Amino acid sequence: MHIHVDYDERLHAVYERGRVLPPGTVAMWMDAIARNAPRRRPLTVLDLGSGTGRFSDAIAERFGGPVYGVEPSARMRSVARTAHPHAAVSYLDGRAESIPLSDASCDVAVLFLVLHHIEHVTLAVKELNRVLRPGARLCVHSGFSGQMHEHLWYRFFPRGREIDDLVFPRLDDVIDQFGEGGFAYVGLDHVDQKVAASLPAYFERFRHRSFSTLEHMSEREVKEGMAAMRAAAERAKEHDPVPVIQTADLLILERADS
Ligand SMILES: C[S@@+](CC[C@H](N)C(=O)[O-])C[C@H]1O[C@@H](n2cnc3c(N)ncnc32)[C@H](O)[C@@H]1O
Repeated sequence: MHIHVDYDERLHAVYERGRVLPPGTVAMWMDAIARNAPRRRPLTVLDLGSGTGRFSDAIAERFGGPVYGVEPSARMRSVARTAHPHAAVSYLDGRAESIPLSDASCDVAVLFLVLHHIEHVTLAVKELNRVLRPGARLCVHSGFSGQMHEHLWYRFFPRGREIDDLVFPRLDDVIDQFGEGGFAYVGLDHVDQKVAASLPAYFERFRHRSFSTLEHMSEREVKEGMAAMRAAAERAKEHDPVPVIQTADLLILERADS
């Protein structure tokens, strides 16, 4: 089910603080892309729904670029230009349904936490097929309805998983939709990413409300969940820090030769 979330409204202002990843975690994601991407270098990469550029500069560092961060929210793009500038990265106005790049121009497309925001997936698949070269890889980091991994925050927000199951697409539907648009299923990779050094550090990040799932909850639910997490974070300060590790899926698809 597609539910519109406007990152120009509030999320752009909290995204960087709320979604910061510890050193090493971004590198783990780059390793995951590298083991699924074509071997040659440099690679031209489309970072679709690049947001604040959280991964765009790292992609340029690892793969050489050029990297095109295509993002519909002007405010997210503005944060990206300040927070993650890189000589090989261009942040462009566009969206999955209308990608401002020429035909067969990219070797890899990265879609990190963006698939569930795309309203017209069939159009997006068509556009991705157009801008990717034959044999190019699509790296899709997303939750998948019915098979969400355990998230620490679900413990404090009882409806979190239920809402995520509504918001995120089913894996088999995604594979079918992309299959019809000329993409072959390669596999489902995983990254066990460290998202915070401890529960208090996790709360410090989470309290900025940068997760769009929270936008679908009542103010009361959010307040109660935050209070419960804050209390647990305070209690955790009395013990040795336990890192928060989150398993995440990376769906790999390949653009067929044609
Ligand atoms: C959760 S953020 C992910 C940002 C970045 N990929 C990351 O992982 O940090 C989702 C982003 O997708 C963008 N978005 C929403 N609809 C989109 C669409 N139709 N095409 C491309 N991006 C879209 C939003 O504006 C937002 O910046």
